[in-house]
Amino acid sequence: MKTIQYLLIAAMLPLAFGCQQEQADGEAGATDTPAATLADAYADHFYVGAALAVEHFTGENERGAALVREQFNTITPENIMKWMHIHPAADSFAFELPDQFVAFGEANDMHLVGHTLVWHSQLAPWVQEVTDSAGMDAVLQDHIGTIVGRYRGRINGWDVVNEALNEDGSLRETIFLNTMGEGYLKRAFDLAAAADPEAELYYNDYNLCQPAKRAGCIEMIKRLQAAGAKIDGVGIQAHFSMNGPSLEEVEKSITEFAALGLKVMLTELDITVLPAPWDVQGADVNRTAEGSDFMNPYAAGLPDSVAVAQAERYEGLFRLLLDHEDVISRVTFWGVDDGHSWKNNWPIPGRTDYTLIFDRNQAPKMAYDSIMMLKRVDP
Ligand code: XIL
Repeated sequence: MKTIQYLLIAAMLPLAFGCQQEQADGEAGATDTPAATLADAYADHFYVGAALAVEHFTGENERGAALVREQFNTITPENIMKWMHIHPAADSFAFELPDQFVAFGEANDMHLVGHTLVWHSQLAPWVQEVTDSAGMDAVLQDHIGTIVGRYRGRINGWDVVNEALNEDGSLRETIFLNTMGEGYLKRAFDLAAAADPEAELYYNDYNLCQPAKRAGCIEMIKRLQAAGAKIDGVGIQAHFSMNGPSLEEVEKSITEFAALGLKVMLTELDITVLPAPWDVQGADVNRTAEGSDFMNPYAAGLPDSVAVAQAERYEGLFRLLLDHEDVISRVTFWGVDDGHSWKNNWPIPGRTDYTLIFDRNQAPKMAYDSIMMLKRVDP
């Protein structure tokens, strides 16, 4: 039944999208006029946004930029504010692209998120050479103070610390932990708060719907709060698959993080439809090889059955988010359309994934409509 419903809607979508003129002529939408965009549909509930690649805010991809302007009201830079890009050498910052990103967001009146200040990945190599606590403290002061200070009053929220936890909930061994101990966490939040007292400050991580990691995250945040850190929200990255995590686990994370007095966000939402190498039983090396049919089953296109299943997964998730709209402040997709999803190249390079709600031609997928439809039936 649902399948037929989605297929019908999918067939009608091009009409819906090209219908501004028809509506103006008074033909369509007389009774049940749907919200025209995702941002509009969810405006009373939470921000909805996307991570942008460089081409989306520099004018290189005008169609992509138009889609972003039309559908989203918050943006996050996918890579350009990461340490290796924004602070590649101890004495040099690269602000040209970040400045353009912020200008694009401001020109379109968007909620701007900075990603990310302290992370062990995509780190500039020179930081790995810092050996002592005082040295690292000075590095953090310069890094956080300079970047957050530059965009003070302009970037609304920062992923201050990204992925500080192991899967068992213990603290990940990074150059920051190794030099400064756990104190680096509080120091990072303090420095960000000092550089922009108005900005929201977040902890952001993946697998936060796994019980052990969630529990470790809660303990870590409690310690930060007890030490007096200003932390405003937690970002559940939400790199999800078709079967996991369960909505029950997502709900537990939402309610347990909210119970800490924090805003909860899905910050990097995508739903892969491809098999993960770690799900594959046995040790058939060919199965994980780039371009293997087994690991890359939809290179020629996404079957309707999978598109429908994905739409249902997105629908269930957004239904849950609406149930908790009092504590959910933002949902950001990790990419604008399927062609721009990092999952095409991770964890196996060169595959064809379909993680997002716009397809490679930037047309809305069934997943898009399932999310929009929720707002139509339940305004
Ligand atoms: C990813 C980007 O999407 C890729 O383009 C890049 O090559 C690697 O990083 N967690 C994060 C994001 O916090 O910054 C990562 O983004 C995905 C996982």
